Amino acid sequence: MKAIQVLKPGNAKCLVYATVPKPTVAAKSILVRNAFSGVNYIDTYIRTGLYPTKMPAILGREGSGIIEQVGRDVHGFNIGDRIAYLATENSYAEFCNVEPKSAVKLPQNVSLEVGAASLIQGLTAITLVRRSYQVKKGDTILVHAAAGGTGRLVVQLCKHLGATVIGTVSTEEKAAIATGLGADHIIYYTKEDVAEKVRGYTNGEMVHAVFDGVGKNTFQGSFDSLKRCGTLVSFGNASGKVPPIEINMLSKGNIVLLRPMLYSYIATPEEFSAANTELFDLISKKVLDINICKQFDLKDATLAHEFIEARKTTGKVLLKIAHQ
Ligand SMILES: NC(=O)c1ccc[n+]([C@@H]2O[C@H](COP(=O)([O-])OP(=O)(O)OC[C@H]3O[C@@H](n4cnc5c(N)ncnc54)[C@H](OP(=O)(O)O)[C@@H]3O)[C@@H](O)[C@H]2O)c1
Repeated sequence: MKAIQVLKPGNAKCLVYATVPKPTVAAKSILVRNAFSGVNYIDTYIRTGLYPTKMPAILGREGSGIIEQVGRDVHGFNIGDRIAYLATENSYAEFCNVEPKSAVKLPQNVSLEVGAASLIQGLTAITLVRRSYQVKKGDTILVHAAAGGTGRLVVQLCKHLGATVIGTVSTEEKAAIATGLGADHIIYYTKEDVAEKVRGYTNGEMVHAVFDGVGKNTFQGSFDSLKRCGTLVSFGNASGKVPPIEINMLSKGNIVLLRPMLYSYIATPEEFSAANTELFDLISKKVLDINICKQFDLKDATLAHEFIEARKTTGKVLLKIAHQ
């Protein structure tokens, strides 16, 4: 079968469209004929070596498709079911083995495209606003990269929960998108001082929480934008890894600092199922609009990574999997 492999860390050009053995189904797994693979920022971290992994590796942590075979110890799934799933690292491929505990049958009204586009960014957004910091009516929340894939979902959820949202973006086009999603105020964080703008928008009150997936370039501004006892949720590295911090800095205002990973919020079948139920319910009620901003063919995974790293995303990037 065809798959996208990384042989050794590098830039997007190091991705190889390779022929590799088709996996065989294991007793406790499901073999999926992939239709779409979701492209995530984390795939670039694995490709560059920021998150070390054993190489050669097939990239890809989520996807959707049709079940081709079911392992003999698997219950609750059947050949032909339409599913979306989280994978350890292998969805940029025609087929992959998936653990049943990380798979979800797609509701009839959810397409394979939307299924592949929903899980990582959608579940991340839900767990950020529910568990990292419980967003409440009346809160003021700062959301970085408010027009990006995860950011736009966080904005929609914060508005749904009754918060005032200040969104940061790099361009006017992205400002229009974030405003359209409900953001009350916009900061152009590549040229404006974030904390000063927050001070102005909040009459000096500052914000209850910051959701920051940008990392290195925004960390200090996020910290300086918080009110006393505020919460800084640093959940990504789009601009690079946040340098080590001095813990005593948190005592200025009793700041709560989190560096969450989605997987530890959905580690049990109950947690995964509850988060998925909420996700697809919010999608069907149109509270969450899953925007697929670009699709590439599997063989063009290099272009997909370059697209993300050139900060062109205004939603989800997918790889479309053709079968030979
Ligand atoms: N912790 C977790 O479990 C978890 C799960 C999912 C995602 N994440 C993290 O969330 C972040 C966003 O992921 P995503 O899938 O939503 O990605 P995305 O759709 O590509 O959005 C990333 C956005 O970050 C902004 N950005 C700022 N500086 C950047 C830079 N130097 N290079 C590229 N982009 C930059 C860009 O918006 P502007 O142009 O407006 O600046 C870009 O659109 C990533 O850091 C990712 O690792 C974490």
